[in-house]
Amino acid sequence: MQEQIFLNGSFVSKEDAKISVMDRGFLFGDGVYELIPVYNGKPFLLDKHLSRLDNSLAMIEIEKSSNDLGIERIIPEIINKNKYRNHFIYIQITRGIHADRQHIYQSKIEPSVLVMGQFSKPYTFEEIKNGFRATIHEDYRWRRANIKSTSLLGNVLLKNHAAKQGMYETILIHNNKVTEGSASNVFVVNGGKIFTPRLGNELLSGVTRNLILELLQSNKLPVEESEVTKEEIDSADEIWCSSSTNPIAPITEVDGKCIQKGTAGEMTLATHKLVSDFIGEY
Ligand code: PDD
Repeated sequence: MQEQIFLNGSFVSKEDAKISVMDRGFLFGDGVYELIPVYNGKPFLLDKHLSRLDNSLAMIEIEKSSNDLGIERIIPEIINKNKYRNHFIYIQITRGIHADRQHIYQSKIEPSVLVMGQFSKPYTFEEIKNGFRATIHEDYRWRRANIKSTSLLGNVLLKNHAAKQGMYETILIHNNKVTEGSASNVFVVNGGKIFTPRLGNELLSGVTRNLILELLQSNKLPVEESEVTKEEIDSADEIWCSSSTNPIAPITEVDGKCIQKGTAGEMTLATHKLVSDFIGEY
């Protein structure tokens, strides 16, 4: 059977799904999205993802909520129709279709809704232990990275900056402070303590980031949300990136300089275990 996706009210095969060129998502990147892991057929931390989606919708002044748009009902249908066990669900909501291309939006247009599966191969534990390489770059994206917007050109260019060098991630710095990765949040271990940048307009409130904070706190591990400077990256004992696609990605080399011995550190692996156990029991 062909993969089924949900687009504007109906389930269609991925190949047959079409959208108007007048959709503001296509013309302006005027929309928001979510990527939700599915483990064992069950969407992971669905309420957290939907509440972030609702925040993103409100911040771009789309007046409907995920509930109004029936997202919670569509997700299990997509999972069941495609028999996803371990997969991702991608949700995209754009402002909708205007007759003309114009910047100013009308309040009464119907958002376009897309829900589909997205495959992403998980890393093996061997790959996790070996870790990944990263590079540092000025964060030149717009200053509202807290909105999970589909306007991802900055992120795309910055991720490719790493990929072209055979690296996993670009760690972004603004005003000498780490904001996040091009597609992840960043954690740094220094002197036995774990730090991650405080939430603000410059970074996404990562669902994985927030889960890690909760797990570290409930296991009495020393963690703090604070500023993380470029110098703290240079002198870090351990670094990892977090995201729904790869919950804990140890960074073992930054711009050619090894972190620790060039393999995942103790705190990183302990956190990886906490998250893996939580997912396993979910
Ligand atoms: N991105 N920051 C950015 C810029 C991201 O793109 C992501 C994840 C995160 C981590 O958020 P979460 O833990 O909620 O996945 C932080 C997803 C995976 C994507 O764009 O595909």
